[in-house]
Amino acid sequence: MRTADIRTRFLDFFAARGHTVVPGAPLPTPDPTLLFVNAGMVPFKPYLTGEQAPPWPRATSVQKCVRTLDIEEVGKTTRHASFFQMNGNFSFGDYFKEEAVAFAWDLSTRPVADGGYGLDPDRIWVTVHHSDTEARAVWRRVADLPDARIVDRGDEDNFWSMGVPGPCGPCSELYYDRGPALGREGGPAVDEDRYMEFWNLVFMQYERGEGPGKTGYPVLGELPRRNIDTGMGLERMATLLQGVDNLYETDETRPVLDRAAELAGVRYGAAPEPDIRLRVVADHVRTALMLLSDGVTPGNEGRGYVLRRIVRRAVRAMRQLGYQDPALPELLPVARDLMAPGYPEVATDYERIADRAYGEEDAFRATLRQGTTVLDAAVAKVRADGGLVLPGDRAFLLHDTYGFPVDLTLEMAAEQGVEVDREGFTALMNAQRERARADARARKSGGTADTTALRALLDAHGPTDWRAWETLTTESRVLGLIGRDGPVAAAREGEIVTAVLDRSPFYAESGGQESDAGRISGASAEAEVLDVRRPLPGLVTHQLRITAGELAAGDPVVAAVDPEWRLGARQAHSGTHVLHAALREILGPTALQSGSYNRPGHLRLDFPWRGALSTAVRGEIEEAANRALRRDLPVGVRWMTLPEAKELGALALFGETYGEKVRVVEIGGAWSRELCGGTHVEHASQIGTVALTAESSVGAGMRRLEAAIGVEGFGYLARERDLVSRIAEQLGAPKAELPERIAGLLDRLKATDQENARLKARATAVRAAELAAGAVEADGTGVVTTTATVDGSPDEARALALAVRDRLPAGRPGAVAVATGTGGLVLALNRPAVEAGLHASALVKRLLSGRGGGSAELAQGGGVPRDRIAGLLAELPGLLTRD
Ligand code: ALA
Repeated sequence: MRTADIRTRFLDFFAARGHTVVPGAPLPTPDPTLLFVNAGMVPFKPYLTGEQAPPWPRATSVQKCVRTLDIEEVGKTTRHASFFQMNGNFSFGDYFKEEAVAFAWDLSTRPVADGGYGLDPDRIWVTVHHSDTEARAVWRRVADLPDARIVDRGDEDNFWSMGVPGPCGPCSELYYDRGPALGREGGPAVDEDRYMEFWNLVFMQYERGEGPGKTGYPVLGELPRRNIDTGMGLERMATLLQGVDNLYETDETRPVLDRAAELAGVRYGAAPEPDIRLRVVADHVRTALMLLSDGVTPGNEGRGYVLRRIVRRAVRAMRQLGYQDPALPELLPVARDLMAPGYPEVATDYERIADRAYGEEDAFRATLRQGTTVLDAAVAKVRADGGLVLPGDRAFLLHDTYGFPVDLTLEMAAEQGVEVDREGFTALMNAQRERARADARARKSGGTADTTALRALLDAHGPTDWRAWETLTTESRVLGLIGRDGPVAAAREGEIVTAVLDRSPFYAESGGQESDAGRISGASAEAEVLDVRRPLPGLVTHQLRITAGELAAGDPVVAAVDPEWRLGARQAHSGTHVLHAALREILGPTALQSGSYNRPGHLRLDFPWRGALSTAVRGEIEEAANRALRRDLPVGVRWMTLPEAKELGALALFGETYGEKVRVVEIGGAWSRELCGGTHVEHASQIGTVALTAESSVGAGMRRLEAAIGVEGFGYLARERDLVSRIAEQLGAPKAELPERIAGLLDRLKATDQENARLKARATAVRAAELAAGAVEADGTGVVTTTATVDGSPDEARALALAVRDRLPAGRPGAVAVATGTGGLVLALNRPAVEAGLHASALVKRLLSGRGGGSAELAQGGGVPRDRIAGLLAELPGLLTRD
């Protein structure tokens, strides 16, 4: 039975029994405890908890789900998928255990001709919670199941919750015996592969609290009503009804798997490792399709990161299968055609989906290429130094700067006979994580982590009277001071505290604009404002360093923003809007800012774009921005409702939440119109200048533009002019001729390099011929052997060894060993030698006591003291006989 048919039968069965058919929800869920819908009941949560009145007493749905907790298991077991569909029937205070069991039994065992799934009743087993004697009785009564096939299980298996506070309850699972070929007799407690779970009935009657794991939480009490939540795994039922081994082989994924096998030139079923990879591809390609179709875009955190990881794992698996070309253009359309009957939007929206997916794959491939170059250089250096371990900081650099996955570093280094210092790498990773966490903690709390104290101040005094848009100075009062360990009455010179004022002219960092700098002065104290935050809605906090005297809670003060600073901040923030508008003018509307940061003199702006911007395009963008400055476009602020702002086409960024009225900043009317809470100049010429200083990649498919603004911008241009003048002087050429002159020099350099390489190759060939001619049979071994030492790098030693080997008499076993002056050793064997049972890697390991490796034909190692080389080379013939 095809998956589509299983889906329809389910909905039809429950619709005929009074259930409203509710369309599945999109995968990204507004539920703050989840990234994605991970069970059929998620969209119904408010009705199950009693938070909202359910619109219907009974409902049924087919729900897309994504679970990535077990992602490492995908492909290895028969039943873990990152994307799956859950068919569910729900009762909100209507029917309970008896009917839920009866429905599941009826649909599962009802003959196919009669709208059911036609499972053999004698092969169905069920589990119940050990305390749930009622469920056991119901199964006996309704299904006439013998006690032996009703298995008791504990909380771990048969008490269901979402893993977070919310509804929960004992559950009962249905399993199908797939036959003795797949495992041992004895039911689900013995073998979950042979006995495959296909349906879970949750008798939802309690509410759970906070707590870890599947059992470490308190049960808070009964829900207002008893509910039913069931989940039948659509892919699992398909596995059973299609008689296939695992859920990757069902009709909605198998064609992707087959296409992947075809591309990679491997046969599915031939060997375990490639099979796992093919299953990973089949699973992940579909998951990526479904996530992209629901509007998720690849990124570095949250949902975007899950998607990125899925795409990368799929691409990686294809690479490991030996397929090097872009894979998604071949595989994604297959998944689309399979899923379109159930989810037409994957076809209608395919252009957008494909654009994102292919872009992500391209970006990852570029990462791989770039990372491979860096890795090869690092490995070569390790070997040139005679070592065998890649330092942890190299692996970390690859990961951190180039986005190169560490498992790949491990694998590729091993291929070249080098290990990675994993401990060093892990230590650096942990240190970085700790820094990020500390940073996040400090950010969230405006300098203090004591949110309880902040909340108490907010409750007592209400929101801060915030005046950043109107003025640079306010008369204020200190409402409270918070030190490192909590509230303090006063702070003295040299101390750093967080201050809450009744009124503040300071801009708190938000919308990419850095917080204001300035001073707070009281009758007996002076303080410098280090940072300004808004840790709770409505509450502004100031991190202060007391520079003189003592500041006490209750003190009247003057709070003053540094006017120079603020002018710079306004220029930079307006400059950001101008650059954004210029970017879109030149690149089109998809170049939508996805993040920005600005402070006096500087700004940066991130936007999705594939590939680097050419110098010419950068020039055009800069020109468009400065044109707006020259035209002196007016800058205005208007308040309106969100729908009005949308109607006007205002750009709302980063999924921020907005109040009833939104603030719209316009530059030149419609030319630049953004929702923004920042501080701005009054007209564009006040920005001074926008000088692009850098363009770079910040993760896959994301570019960053940086610019110097105002006085800094002019300074930057002056420095560049100076640099060009100096280069012109050095080359003795007019500035206008510089590009040509440099190109000429580079050409000459390249020609010289080539000539050098040619000479070296010729010298190697001559020497190789001499060495090959001088090779003699090592005593009694039948192996023609020669040894040499070169004064060059390991690469040169390897080139020489291979050149000699290829010149040895054909058809006779031959071995060539070449040592470098720096203590490296390369051993090359010819085919007859390998066929005679010799193994280069084993020999090198033996010679160097394990410090080396490679393949049967070619191996190398290092760390040989100079004075030992001759001795080692002399030992080789002896080893050849001992094998
Ligand atoms: N909500 C239950 C599950 O996910 C049915 O297994």
